[in-house]
Amino acid sequence: LKNETIFGGLTDEELTRVIEIMVIRQFERNVIIFFEGEVGDNFYLVLSGEVRIYKISPDGREKNLALIGPGDFFGEMALIDKKTRSATAETMSKTRLGVIHQKHFSDLIDQYPEIALKMIVQLTERLRRANQQIESLTFKDVQGRLVQFLLQYADENEDDDPVPLKKRVTHQIIANQIGASRETVSRILSQLQKEGYITIKNRLIYITKRKELKDRWERK
Ligand code: CMP
Repeated sequence: LKNETIFGGLTDEELTRVIEIMVIRQFERNVIIFFEGEVGDNFYLVLSGEVRIYKISPDGREKNLALIGPGDFFGEMALIDKKTRSATAETMSKTRLGVIHQKHFSDLIDQYPEIALKMIVQLTERLRRANQQIESLTFKDVQGRLVQFLLQYADENEDDDPVPLKKRVTHQIIANQIGASRETVSRILSQLQKEGYITIKNRLIYITKRKELKDRWERK
């Protein structure tokens, strides 16, 4: 809890209090934590694994809003504005969550305003990302959006080509992320592979010509 979570600034004593009110729950892969539209009374901190936040269209298509990994939180919105869940949350792998009930969550915020401040920083980051998504859905074609996704998910720790993505993603996940069909994603990926911009090894995508990829599509 100490590092890089919204509880990062607390003293050991204060952290002990957080741990006391937190219930640890383990979930298998592809388990729905809650559905959009439900009444929500829990806040969730991802301890390990990954959770996908998404919306479903009336005809069953899914659009991912975010992938939430270790150290990050979700489920705060329904507690803050007392409205229903704004999206559906589902585990992408075996996942451990720290669950805090609404009544304890409000107490925590009252007692430790620094938690609220850290949360605002996170929410600001999410709004920036959402704005970027609006921009690319409005102004870019599918190919441009896919390239932007690849560049965004490239491992920042790697300077030299080929740069691997931070993790393995299925074509379906990419499709849900950029608002396209799985077939289109597969077609564009093999085209990029044929043209030498990416390679795929062990189901992990590597960008082989990052600069060229940026120059050709990012501004499109
Ligand atoms: P809540 O509305 O309670 O339930 C769905 C949760 O998904 C929401 O709280 C946020 O924690 C999270 N969420 C919704 N929209 C986004 C977004 N655009 N980016 C990141 N997380 C989001």
